[in-house]
Formats: sequence, structure tokens, C-alpha cells
Amino acid sequence: MKNFEFHNPTRIVFGAETVGRLDQLIPAQARVLILYGGASAEKTGTLAEVRQALGQRSVQEFGGIEPNPSYETLMRAVQLVRAEQLDFLLAVGGGSVIDGTKFVAAAALYDGEPWEIAEQGGANIRQALPIGTVLTLPATGSEMNSGAVVTRKATQAKLPFRNALLYPRFSVLDPSKTFTLPAKQIANGLVDAYVHTIEQYLTYPVQAHVQDRFAEGLLQTLIEIAPPAVATPDDYATRANLMWTATLALNGLIGAGVPQDWATHMIGHELTALYDIDHARTLALVLPALLDVQRDSKRAKLLQYAARVWDIRSGSEDERITAAIASTRHFFEGLGIPTRLSAYGLGPDAVEAVLRQLQAHGMTALGEHRDIDLARSRRILQAAL
Ligand code: NZQ
Ligand code: ZN
Repeated sequence: MKNFEFHNPTRIVFGAETVGRLDQLIPAQARVLILYGGASAEKTGTLAEVRQALGQRSVQEFGGIEPNPSYETLMRAVQLVRAEQLDFLLAVGGGSVIDGTKFVAAAALYDGEPWEIAEQGGANIRQALPIGTVLTLPATGSEMNSGAVVTRKATQAKLPFRNALLYPRFSVLDPSKTFTLPAKQIANGLVDAYVHTIEQYLTYPVQAHVQDRFAEGLLQTLIEIAPPAVATPDDYATRANLMWTATLALNGLIGAGVPQDWATHMIGHELTALYDIDHARTLALVLPALLDVQRDSKRAKLLQYAARVWDIRSGSEDERITAAIASTRHFFEGLGIPTRLSAYGLGPDAVEAVLRQLQAHGMTALGEHRDIDLARSRRILQAAL
């Protein structure tokens, strides 16, 4: 196992009817900004519940944060925070709203052009406003981590950043808030959480037994709950398991002390920025192809994944690896999520366009061995055609 420090300060308040707890979670004197997305938070009644829980506090609202939150939109929230001297940010929504809120939290106190935060991956954040979240979409893990991803529409740049100051103070996770999600978003959430787990697990062995077993447990849980999660929106037990699994997939626990490979995400971000494909859907395009191209350097873990997650134990090593990759592809396809670029009408031109973006963003040494250079990214994308 590698050396590590693990500190996750986010308080999780989990369960049905927990939005009312906001009253105790946010300081009474706070000047609060509620941030939310499009119409869903109002339509589902969650926003009304939040307003009620905040009682007599000074509260303002900022709506309209779009999926894959944009710098352009978020800078309007930054202006509001500065003008009104707001001092507590409450995100009500999915990963996009929470990520956007993290950007606002840092940008409002940043001395300089805030886009530098994204350009420097968050290393230049010195202070940030406190944030809390009410999660309405289980997928990203943003509710219990210090990372975020923002897009600058003008330049089609979608960049990740992180800083320990950006952990939410608390996150309210009420699984019944997910009942209103379209099936497509649930499928996206299952795939996003699955790929987060894979990217911290499917590298090379470092004798990290409990991280491996945790990761395999999360993967098996996602496979098991996928059918009812999609088919039965108001199945509370299933949604509770999905919500907690997605949080655990990216809250630092399974990634502590192990190598990580975020190449699928970095290539996926470029596909979203260029072609507006949902985040999780880009991951389903890249991952099976990446596993195939990287099958030699990931051999030991691919065999472990085949045996322990998919119960594939017979055949030659290469046959087992091929079968495990096929099972992964079938899992995504079974959720209605394509694993081929052609499903989006994309061909060889798109491969070259993504490569140009990767180069522009310095994404030229990806993967656990930093061996995914542009030539290898080209092979991966070609394998995904
Ligand atoms: O905008 P509204 O009307 O609210 O609708 C949203 C949105 O259209 C809707 N929705 C959310 N909760 C709902 C609901 N509809 C009905 N009922 C509810 N309860 O869902 C749509 C998608 O929301 P979004 O927040 O965009 O989805 P998701 O949570 O998948 O977030 C994706 C973003 O997170 C980033 C992605 O890159 C992408 O920008 N990620 C953030 C990570 C992190 N911070 O650690 C890690 C991830 O890998 C990911 O990169
Ligand atoms: Zn993701």
C-alpha cells in the first residue's frame, strides 16, 4: 500500500425527511445563497422545503446553473455573492450545481481572474466560502469530495480542480429526492459511480486488500441494484443504496493508498466539451476501449476484476480479460448507454478533434503509469469508434 493521508470533513446527514435538518446545520446568522439548476428543484418541491427549513435567515437565490456548469453563468453568482456580502452557499441539486457552487465559493474570494482557479487545478485557492449541499442526483460524489469540474463555453474547455477548502461542511442525502429523476439520469449515475470506482481500482496491485474489497463491493452493488434503480423510481431501499454507493465511490476512501487512473474522465471531459454528450455517457464510450488498449499493464487487476466482480474464472488469461471487458460493455449498454462513438454519429474526425483538445489542455501523460500519451489516446478513441 502507498503512503497516504485521509481526512474527509464532510458531515453526511442521510435519510428520508432530512431537509429540515438544515436549520441546525447552517449558522443562524448566516447570509445564505441557495444555488440551484433549471426547473427541477422548484418543480419537485425541494426548493420550497429548503426555504422553509432556513426560516428567518437572510436568504437569496441563484438559479439556472446548467449541466456541466459554465464559468459564464457562475461568474454572475460570484458578482451576487460579492455585491450582497453573502457568506454561506447552499447547493440544491446534482453534481453540476454542487461543482458550480464550489467554483463560486473559491472565486468569490479570489484575488485575480477566477478562471485561473480551473487553469491551475485549484492549487491557487487560498480561501473559500463555506458550502453545504442538498443532493438530488446520486452520481458524482461531489457532495463529499473536494473536487469540481467547470466549463468555459467560449473556449470549449472543461477543466477539473480541487482543494481541501472545497469539501462541503455537510451534505443532506435524502434518497426520496431521487424519485423524480428521469430514468436516463439514474442510468448516468450508475455508470458514473461505476467508472469512478474502476478508476481507483483497475490499475495494478499494491497489496491494498481492503481498498480492493471495498471497490469490488461497490461495483457489485451497482450491478445488483441497476435494474430496480431504473425500473422502480420510488423503491426507497434501492435508491438509498445507490445514493450511498455513489458517494462512497468518490469520497477518497477507496482511493487512499492506491494508484489511480483518471484517463477515462479526462478524455470524456473533452467529448462533453466538444459534443455536449452527458458526462457519464462519455465514460461509457471511453472505458471499454481503454481497458482493451491497456490490457497488458492492467493485466493482474483485470484478472482479479473478472473473477471477483463478474465471476469469470475459466479460460485463458486473455479470454477472461476479454470477457470481463465485454461484461462491462454489456452492463452499460443494458442501461441504454452506448459504448461506441458511432452511436452519436461521431467518426475519425472526432478522434482528431479530441486529441487536439487533450493536447491544448496538457492531457498528454495520463493513466496510472502516465503512459497514455496522445498516440495511445488515439488508439483508445479509435477502438471506441
Ligand atoms: O437543472 P435541473 O432542472 O435541476 O435538472 C437536472 C439536470 O438537468 C436534473 N435533476 C437533478 N436532480 C433532479 C433532476 N431532475 C429531476 N429530479 C431530480 N431530483 O438532472 C440533470 C443533470 O444534472 P447534473 O447535476 O448535471 O448531473 P450530475 O450529477 O451527473 O453531474 C454531472 C457533472 O458533474 C461533474 C461532471 O463533469 C458534470 O459536469 N463531475 C463532478 C465530479 C466531482 N465533483 O467529483 C466527478 C464526476 O466525475 C464528474 O466529472
Ligand atoms: Zn464522473
